[in-house]
Amino acid sequence: MLQINHIHLAYGPRMVLDDVSFTVAPGEKAGLIGVNGAGKSSLLKIIAGFQESDSGTVMLPRSYGYLSQDVAHEAPIAGGELVRDFIFSSTGLDKAIAAYEEHSARIAAAQDDGELETQLTRFALAQDALERLGYYDADARCEQLIAGLNLGGVTLDRTVSTLSGGQKTKLALVRLLFQSPDLLLLDEPTNFLDVEATGWLMEFLESYQGAILIISHDIDLLDRSITKILRLNEFTHKVEEYRGTYSNYLTITGDALALIEKTRRLQEREIERLRKTSQKLRKFGATRVSQRNSIDRRIEALEKSKPQQVQSSRSIKIDFPVRYASERTVLLAEGLCKSYGKRQIFRDINFQVERGQRLVIVGLNGAGKTTLLRTLLDLTPLTAGDVVIGDRVRLGYYAQENEGLNYDNTVIHEAGDVLPDNMKRVRSILGRFLFTGDRVFQQIGTLSGGEKTRLALAKMVLDGPNLLILDEPTTHLDVMSRNIIGEALSSYNGTIIAVTHDIEFVRHLNPDTLLLMPEGRTVLYDTRYDELLERA
Ligand SMILES: Nc1ncnc2c1ncn2[C@@H]1O[C@H](COP(=O)(O)OP(=O)(O)OP(=O)(O)O)[C@@H](O)[C@H]1O
Ligand SMILES: [Mg+2]
Repeated sequence: MLQINHIHLAYGPRMVLDDVSFTVAPGEKAGLIGVNGAGKSSLLKIIAGFQESDSGTVMLPRSYGYLSQDVAHEAPIAGGELVRDFIFSSTGLDKAIAAYEEHSARIAAAQDDGELETQLTRFALAQDALERLGYYDADARCEQLIAGLNLGGVTLDRTVSTLSGGQKTKLALVRLLFQSPDLLLLDEPTNFLDVEATGWLMEFLESYQGAILIISHDIDLLDRSITKILRLNEFTHKVEEYRGTYSNYLTITGDALALIEKTRRLQEREIERLRKTSQKLRKFGATRVSQRNSIDRRIEALEKSKPQQVQSSRSIKIDFPVRYASERTVLLAEGLCKSYGKRQIFRDINFQVERGQRLVIVGLNGAGKTTLLRTLLDLTPLTAGDVVIGDRVRLGYYAQENEGLNYDNTVIHEAGDVLPDNMKRVRSILGRFLFTGDRVFQQIGTLSGGEKTRLALAKMVLDGPNLLILDEPTTHLDVMSRNIIGEALSSYNGTIIAVTHDIEFVRHLNPDTLLLMPEGRTVLYDTRYDELLERA
């Protein structure tokens, strides 16, 4: 049983969690939801013991495992070991195997009966350990997980350091599922999975024996694999609990506006109640002064966190200006081939992109979509072929996994570097992406997943590019931000090349062309391809 009691967390003056309490029973499957920046990841880190809360307690079941939203940056996976050992280390199976091997060697080397006897006893114990840890079908279980998550080409005997960033992220998930703990703590695990792997994971989670606490913006997942919704309310900073799936939650809560209204009323009532208590305490004079002060502080905090009228601050309105237009031919790709050693990713890809065109690249995980984008940008060398970028093309690139951001920088520095001569515009654009007040001095490494994405997009807007190259730009965004970015891009009058399998986003983009990977065929877009897009 997971039991969270009275957790409080503030980052400086910013309240994130206010007296959060809930439980997740053995075998229960809970989805933790909330807007970008609500504090979901912070809460999960506190539960997993990777972050301290200001107060409160966490009681965990015997075994648990945690996967961070930002594995690529947070948990550098040891380089030298084999994939097998890395996975096995989650249960201690790697050590058990080493012990077993050592004891067999000792038996062989035993000098007399007495020593042999001791070694045999130890050997038997080591053997028991192997059995308990499921040694005999361990390889097969690993391979199933690897296949399920579409980690094609990753064999158990490969060295971890040879894997790509995306593959390492998935491998971390494989390791966790292999461990099969009493409680799984997952922070947006489907962000870097294609639809097939996501489907597989949903099924896996549905039939998982242990308890699950999962953060996700994936409505499908929330509708299928869980049995209760925990909503982290961004206004009250408390967790609300709803039985059933996400659809249930929506029916119970009604639309977002109603929810805000409801929150507001509840908060006002609470403030009223606290005021009365505070007044009562006043009568006791000095003896109750510290109690009264703490109540007054709470009133103040509540007043501050009261929902704005429909949260006008949350409705980002962005337009994507183009500084100047490019030539008619924006990009010409001729005979592009890419191999890593013997492994061929794609070959003989030819296409041309004209000014104002919107091209969406479609293909399964591992089909080489990101690699293709990176070769267009000359970030990854081609094995053969040529990319010609037209004159006056001003490029904006949104990279998957926020690799374009310097985590040590502050928000204002990072954005200011794009347009150093016009800090006024920098501040104004940051504001429209919801970085206001002191938030601009926050260090990028501490931003939430959605906030990092918003910053990366803000930087792009500041630069005024006429060609956007976007790699899964909506992954970390909550539903509202996704729509806003989608709308902004739909009125953009530059050229777009994008990789995405977010079908809503594709509707906004309204592409004219699809490039099918890995074969490299281009087709005119029409809604018949939606199914294909979703599968990719
Ligand atoms: N060390 C820190 N210092 C200051 N602010 C922080 C720090 N760490 C996190 N925050 C802020 O706390 C808030 C909650 O962050 P958290 O990562 O928990 O959000 P989240 O709900 O997981 O959001 P997302 O959906 O975008 O992943 C964010 O606004 C974030 O910027
Ligand atoms: Mg998060």
